[in-house]
Amino acid sequence: MCGIVAYIGKRSAYPVIVKGLKRLEYRGYDSAGIALLNEDLNIYKKQGKVAQLEEFTIGKDLSGSIGIGHTRWATHGEPCDKNAHPHRSSNGKLAMIHNGIIENYTQLKGELLKKGYEFESDTDTEVLLKFIEDIQKNNQCPLEEAVRIALKRVVGAYVIILLDKDNPDTLIAARKGSPLVIGIGKGEHFLASDASPIIEYTKEVVYVNDYELAIVKADELILKNLGNEKVTPFIQKLDMELAAIEKGGYDHFMLKEINEQPDTIHDCLRGRLDAQHFNIRMAGIDKNIDKLINAQRIMIVACGTSWHAGLVAEYIIEDLCRIPVEVEYASEFRYRNPVIHPGDVIIAISQSGETADTMVAIEKAKEQGAVILGIVNQVGSSIARISDAGAYTHAGPEIGVASTKAFTAQLAVLTMVAMKIAESKGTLNSDKFKHLVQELNAIPEKVPAILAKSNELKALAEKYKDARDFLFLGRGLNFPVALEGALKLKEISYIHAEGYPAAEMKHGPIALVDENLPVVFVATKDAYYEKIVSNIQEIKARKGKVIAIVSEGDDVITKMVDDYFEVPEADETVAPMLSVIPLQLLAYYVGVAKGLDVDKPRNLAKSVTVE
Ligand code: G6P
Repeated sequence: MCGIVAYIGKRSAYPVIVKGLKRLEYRGYDSAGIALLNEDLNIYKKQGKVAQLEEFTIGKDLSGSIGIGHTRWATHGEPCDKNAHPHRSSNGKLAMIHNGIIENYTQLKGELLKKGYEFESDTDTEVLLKFIEDIQKNNQCPLEEAVRIALKRVVGAYVIILLDKDNPDTLIAARKGSPLVIGIGKGEHFLASDASPIIEYTKEVVYVNDYELAIVKADELILKNLGNEKVTPFIQKLDMELAAIEKGGYDHFMLKEINEQPDTIHDCLRGRLDAQHFNIRMAGIDKNIDKLINAQRIMIVACGTSWHAGLVAEYIIEDLCRIPVEVEYASEFRYRNPVIHPGDVIIAISQSGETADTMVAIEKAKEQGAVILGIVNQVGSSIARISDAGAYTHAGPEIGVASTKAFTAQLAVLTMVAMKIAESKGTLNSDKFKHLVQELNAIPEKVPAILAKSNELKALAEKYKDARDFLFLGRGLNFPVALEGALKLKEISYIHAEGYPAAEMKHGPIALVDENLPVVFVATKDAYYEKIVSNIQEIKARKGKVIAIVSEGDDVITKMVDDYFEVPEADETVAPMLSVIPLQLLAYYVGVAKGLDVDKPRNLAKSVTVE
């Protein structure tokens, strides 16, 4: 979702900003724009990709060592040139970019219209900019002061960055609810939605907090709160290499990230799972272990793929820890007046750590006394910082919009959390604990066997790519895996796909089954094996085409189905980390076979920073 980049320093701002916008392309967007300040304030914007913006700017004045750039994911107003950012103030002196939503923009716009302001776009951003301009005009105050006054009236979420023709050596930025990172160079500063546009210039960054205003000059960074008091910037070192955000020889980030999973799962376990001494150490969990084992209830809030990881965790935690678990879509949880008792544990799962709904959901639960545990990939992100404790998934930057390696890392962390609670609580006997430690430890070694057979999935993708619909079925822990398989396919290939509990399909989806419907069964060896064999027969009896994900050596299902893919055997608690990988690859290859942009599927955003 909207990406922002800004630069101030000695370099030419244009190439830094354009490169930065390209690094943020993965977030998902539909138009791009840039404003550069020299003697003039030049604004160039275009619907489409950053490459189209670059084409548009050929031959234009691109000079200036201060500038702002933006990729827009439409919220207010369709994607088109005029709605793209930056926007310009009526007096022509200010330019602004914005990520987020101004909820009371209609009211503010009404006030401004009465005063005679005119609007060129349909955006809430232009309204906020002109609101700031109006305050500055009426109070004859510096821009910084006008921004502060304006933001006190604004309802919503935002990161804004302003350029001011009257102050060509200063950028003003502010944040509430949307992410903003400032990279500190030598005599230069880089501002962005995340660290990826910054990493090649500096590793020193400041994560701006909610309700903070940044006054940024080439060699000075001042942070203030909305009460105009200075705040000391907390400088952190980025633990990320440039290679992590580049394709490294793969055709797509998604393929690279799927292939990274032996390493990412290993990184996630490293230093935590001690298979030699049968021990799990997780600092954030260990510190809060009493709260966790005494919890009357655990609620998991998340969105998208992270929500599927939450469903897997529900099965595992209830089974191992005997604590009731509820899994909620963060967007529903935040608005439905949930019953929360002090001491309830809320686990928030998020790859980006910036998903607006998840963030607000946990803020709300925290106010009511819940203990918040964040399972987050993006280090230093908002959700990680709001949480009382947590564990990073350490999967490294995930650029492909469809989440893959972050999902398996989430499963690895959540499994360890469940095992840790169960062990401390005494609900898991020592033999089973040891067995699970070994099984979990063996996962990274088992993944390459799946990746090595990618060609089988490529062939399946060719065979089924023209299907109109797909059904994904599973039972027990394989049910959330089926949901995730369906989500991956629809995200990447735009084929309609539904995930369902295999037994529940009799209550509806079975009506769809005919010789044209591919049905993917996640049917690895587990306690439900016999049951799922029956479900497969029910589909075959109705001429459905069955593709089964089975355990190596399966000689029952493999004889019944049209196509199958074998994954290494594993205890059912940890098996989802393996059985999901062929589904990721299937979706990937179908998307590629259909000639689609798998890393940036239409309409989707990597980091959903609006509700
Ligand atoms: C978007 C992404 C998904 C992701 C979901 C939740 O929809 O495209 O891949 O699963 O947001 O994001 P989070 O960062 O909170 O895990």
